[in-house]
Amino acid sequence: MITAGSSHDQVVVLGTAAAFGHYCSSSINSTSVGASDLVPDGYLWQFSSPDTSSPTLLLGQNERGTLYGAFAYILELAQGNDPIKSASNTTTIASGATRHVSNPAAPVWWVNQWDNLDGSIERGYGGRSLFFAGGKVVADLRRAAAYARILASVGINAVVVNNVNADAALVHTPANIEGLGRIADAFRPFGVRIGVSLNFAAPQSVGGLQTYDPLDASVVAFWDDVTAQLYKRIPDLAGFLVKGDSEGQPGPRKYGRSLAAGANLFARALRKHSSAAADSPGILMYRAFVYDQLQESNWKADRANAAVSYFAPLDGQFDDNVVVQVKYGPIDFQVREPASPLFGHLQKTNAAIELQVTQEYLGQQCHLVYLPPLWRTVLDFDMGKTSGKASLVRDIVTGTHFSRPLGGSAGVVNAGTSDTWLGSHMSQANLYAYGRMAWDPSGGDDDNDAATPRHIIEAWTRLTFGGSPAVVDTIADMALASWPAYENYTGNLGMQTLTDILYTHFGPNPASQDGNGWGQWTRADKNGMGMDRTVRNGTGFAGQYVGAEVAARFESVDTTPQDLLLWFHHVPYTQPLPGPRPGENTTVIQHIYDAHYAGAETAASFVTRWAALNARNALNVDAERYASIARKLAFQAGHALVWRDAVCAFFDGLSGIADRHGRVGHHPWRIEAEAMTLHGYTRQAVSPAIAASGGQAIVATGRGQASASAPIPPSIPPGVYTLAVNYFDLAGGRASYEAQISGKTVGNWTGSAEDVFGKATSTHLDGHSAMRVSFAGVVVAAGDTVTVLGTPDGAEQAPLDYVSFLPDGVVD
Ligand code: GCU
Repeated sequence: MITAGSSHDQVVVLGTAAAFGHYCSSSINSTSVGASDLVPDGYLWQFSSPDTSSPTLLLGQNERGTLYGAFAYILELAQGNDPIKSASNTTTIASGATRHVSNPAAPVWWVNQWDNLDGSIERGYGGRSLFFAGGKVVADLRRAAAYARILASVGINAVVVNNVNADAALVHTPANIEGLGRIADAFRPFGVRIGVSLNFAAPQSVGGLQTYDPLDASVVAFWDDVTAQLYKRIPDLAGFLVKGDSEGQPGPRKYGRSLAAGANLFARALRKHSSAAADSPGILMYRAFVYDQLQESNWKADRANAAVSYFAPLDGQFDDNVVVQVKYGPIDFQVREPASPLFGHLQKTNAAIELQVTQEYLGQQCHLVYLPPLWRTVLDFDMGKTSGKASLVRDIVTGTHFSRPLGGSAGVVNAGTSDTWLGSHMSQANLYAYGRMAWDPSGGDDDNDAATPRHIIEAWTRLTFGGSPAVVDTIADMALASWPAYENYTGNLGMQTLTDILYTHFGPNPASQDGNGWGQWTRADKNGMGMDRTVRNGTGFAGQYVGAEVAARFESVDTTPQDLLLWFHHVPYTQPLPGPRPGENTTVIQHIYDAHYAGAETAASFVTRWAALNARNALNVDAERYASIARKLAFQAGHALVWRDAVCAFFDGLSGIADRHGRVGHHPWRIEAEAMTLHGYTRQAVSPAIAASGGQAIVATGRGQASASAPIPPSIPPGVYTLAVNYFDLAGGRASYEAQISGKTVGNWTGSAEDVFGKATSTHLDGHSAMRVSFAGVVVAAGDTVTVLGTPDGAEQAPLDYVSFLPDGVVD
């Protein structure tokens, strides 16, 4: 128990409720401080009435709760708030004191890391693993311990340290088990327990057995032994995470065993090791992300149906320490998905929601995309009436709705060695929000609740950049506009993120969705698009919602929300839609064009909003972070245009229906590189062609400096412009460039995204490597020429797409 000064009472007493009851006067015993209101890991703050001199109490139900209570208190002070005023749900007790009780909504609020033993992180955009390198646990775990502190400060209670696509070797050698033990030791002071992902086939692949059949006695013994070794070294092990029978991973179905039999195998091994140190039995998180490759020619085939068809019939067959971990949507972390209908079917099974903090399909930390508004659409989703009342996903996953003992959430975070942990300063807001929302998924039903996405981003901003109202407003406004903007310039109307699903899930490639077995289909053809998921005529997915009224709503085009239209229905491009303003009408194809233009404009506005902060000198952001965020926002604005143009060109080409406003394919301010006079450059096709303006780029033919130049045409009259240059930045090279107007340098840059992004860029000229650099205030006089000089480096042949002279206010 420690004491410290506070603005309110001068003395703060910090400890567990039990210790407080034991050591302090009986007049303030643990009962009177309300310990009975606390659940494990919960805490309370108690402020004495102003006319007494009693200290402020910060008491946890256990030590972890004490830590969370202290962090929460400090986070209020750090925002300049008086905790007593900012505390929600306060009650006044008999002594006149004010009490605020905060309990986690569910027992599981975990983080998953997809770290590999070689030090890489699957879908990680923030550098290398904090835990592993060269096949083993790193010697220096100081940074891992700092990560533990971050996780505790946002209220996380466990971290699964290795990839769901698990390497069987991790739990096989004594050295690795000792290494895991050292990771657990580094996390323990912060109350964060560790869990481990297991590979189902380990008994065979590393254990020397003939089988990995979950019902085979030797397999049971193998896992019992692994579990015992882990508990010996890590007595407070949080549990295991298993991905079976999915995307090539081994699982119980190979032996005709059910997924429940597979899950229970590990759950039973864990159950043998409940110990005081663990303070709850080890939990087996079993992923519902199970699906098979499908035939697209089958109109009724649908990957989205997989989770319910595999897991719903097993409801009630999972042991009590199994939690089925369900991705928020039925496909895969897309920009918009309806909530997974599986949540409504797990009525006798513990369930947790899986969210992705790492922005795999959502800009990979190179785009500002603040995720809580997306998460809210799922947490607040009502599965329809079950047990006579509304079934909100947030109540199902906390276990309250179906009275389940376990439940909660898992967030795939993938922090790494980057200075910013996740790869960008702004993406930390998503981790902070994840912690807040995992602790309290209720989210607030009105604007005053401290758990709304706006309040969370405002709190994060104050904690990160200080309390300048201009900074708080700017960041909050940008953050709240960011997910809708990203949805607009990637895939609107519920068509999913139209990225390259066969490669790195970053840039645009709408054609890659269809024509393969992965099942992320849009079924776009020359007449229309969208997955028909109706029961009447389609895949039947709409009928998977347990609430008949929900199923009926999605069954009809007229009652399906517009932002999920193409998720549930296959419609012609000419399908009429209500327009953005009352009385206005539009069509699906025009909505696609308009949304992509609007999204790119919003992204462009982030750059100016951020710059305006600097101009007003209202900035509480140090120069380094200011510049780093400015760089990312500028990249995003450029890449949003790549997205806009690629998706619009794709649908323009496919549908043959022109943009009503004449924008698509018409770029009066551009000069295509392939149309310039080239020296040492040659034209090259880009794949997909829509990722390049005009379908082509130029690349240097040799190793020396190459040049592309053109007279500036009369359609670009003399004046002052922002010169934008679109080029491609490939992995494995840092080409250098210079832009000149009539021989005078107006800008230079290097293709060094690999140093700036914290993630690998693409090795091809495509939608992932396409990007833009801009130079403001470029003066053009009559008869001027524009030249770009490019010097190759490594694998990068100084590729160029086009230059654009943009008058003020034009986004193109
Ligand atoms: C996505 C992701 C994979 C990951 C998988 C999963 O498909 O692209 O890298 O392994 O999800 O969640 O298991």
